[in-house]
Amino acid sequence: MLIDHLNRRLRERDAQSLRRRRRIAEAACGPHQRVAADGRPASEAREVLAFCSNDYLGLASHPALIEALAEGARLYGAGSGASHLISGHSRAHAALEDELAKWMAPSIPGAEVLSFSTGYMANLALLTALGDADATIFADKLNHASLVDGALLAKAELHRYAHRNLQVLERQLQACTTPIRLIVSDAVFSMDGDVAELDKLLALAERFDAWLIVDDAHGFGVLGAQGRGTLAHYGLCSERLIVMGTLGKAAGLAGAFVAAHPVIIDWLLQAARAYIYTTAAPPAIAHALRASLALIGGEEGEARRRHLKSLIAALRAQLGALIAEHPRLGWRLAESSTAIQPLIVGDNAAALAVAAALDAQGLWVPAIRPPTVPVGTARLRITLSAAHTEADVQRLVQALRCAARELSCHPTSILL
Ligand SMILES: Cc1ncc(COP(=O)(O)O)c(C=O)c1O
Repeated sequence: MLIDHLNRRLRERDAQSLRRRRRIAEAACGPHQRVAADGRPASEAREVLAFCSNDYLGLASHPALIEALAEGARLYGAGSGASHLISGHSRAHAALEDELAKWMAPSIPGAEVLSFSTGYMANLALLTALGDADATIFADKLNHASLVDGALLAKAELHRYAHRNLQVLERQLQACTTPIRLIVSDAVFSMDGDVAELDKLLALAERFDAWLIVDDAHGFGVLGAQGRGTLAHYGLCSERLIVMGTLGKAAGLAGAFVAAHPVIIDWLLQAARAYIYTTAAPPAIAHALRASLALIGGEEGEARRRHLKSLIAALRAQLGALIAEHPRLGWRLAESSTAIQPLIVGDNAAALAVAAALDAQGLWVPAIRPPTVPVGTARLRITLSAAHTEADVQRLVQALRCAARELSCHPTSILL
């Protein structure tokens, strides 16, 4: 019965071009990958040029981080052995938290930090622990799934506002009667690449005695002086800020952290189930993350951010020209100045067709479809990394030009 039911649902997804599939990466994360189809052996892997990771600074395969990870394993072993509150909290975790607290101090005076195994869990922990029955959560409609899930799990009332629509948010805040108010937003929206107006959100938080929870998964390491993140990009500083940053994207490893007022951090330690009831991440990762912070904040990080910025400008200029050449396709480049550069195609099958046309030319760019993005806005989520070269970007645009020509002449020829 269950199997028949699920098979029916899987077939529905197929019919709507919504079936998801994985690929197997055979090599270290980087622009030049070897990938095999899921379920196929390594011998069938192909070389591809990838534009899909969130490794924005190209640190995931950096020799210094590989060495730091090995050193961390030699010092602390392979695993943590238990949750943080039992015996899994090592000196490596404590040192990382101290360093991140210093890192965030210019934005949140007196901040303390709690480290997590993943950003997904950090967001669940944060929203369920703070969003009790005395609270209301105000959330941007395009927030990441982990913030949506955290808000749905929380006991707080939930109001979602249209993407970046601060007038709607203001009206919702005005009407709010609970004593605790939590405004929750991605800093850089993960599927659109646009940056939330954190300065205006903070002003609203101050006016309505609310707290601003910022998910800086895609800003940490990339934006602001020394890559300190989107709060630094805006030059914000307030005790009302609560920041979640992830460490598996620009930082090149894995994990996440929450930086906030010490009492908030203490409360998370006491009450956040997604923190308490899970094994601590391997200490070696925390150890290597300190080496990553040194790279991000130093000259090498600066050079990588500069290079990334020039790649973003080159890609946008070339894609803008390409879109203008093929107006009938209805493609649109999202308004984004970050490393996330979505090419919005619209229809699910059409997005898959473009991704397939790129794949046929040896390029790996994922097609993102609902429910990850709103219906009718299926897209190629192109992400750039400092590990890409200008020639890589040109190759991507050339491949998209071929796909555009083919789709313009034979709109159904390469549909899957
Ligand atoms: C905006 C945002 N928040 C949170 C997460 C979750 O972070 P993690 O991958 O560390 O679980 C992601 C992506 O994965 C994200 O894009």
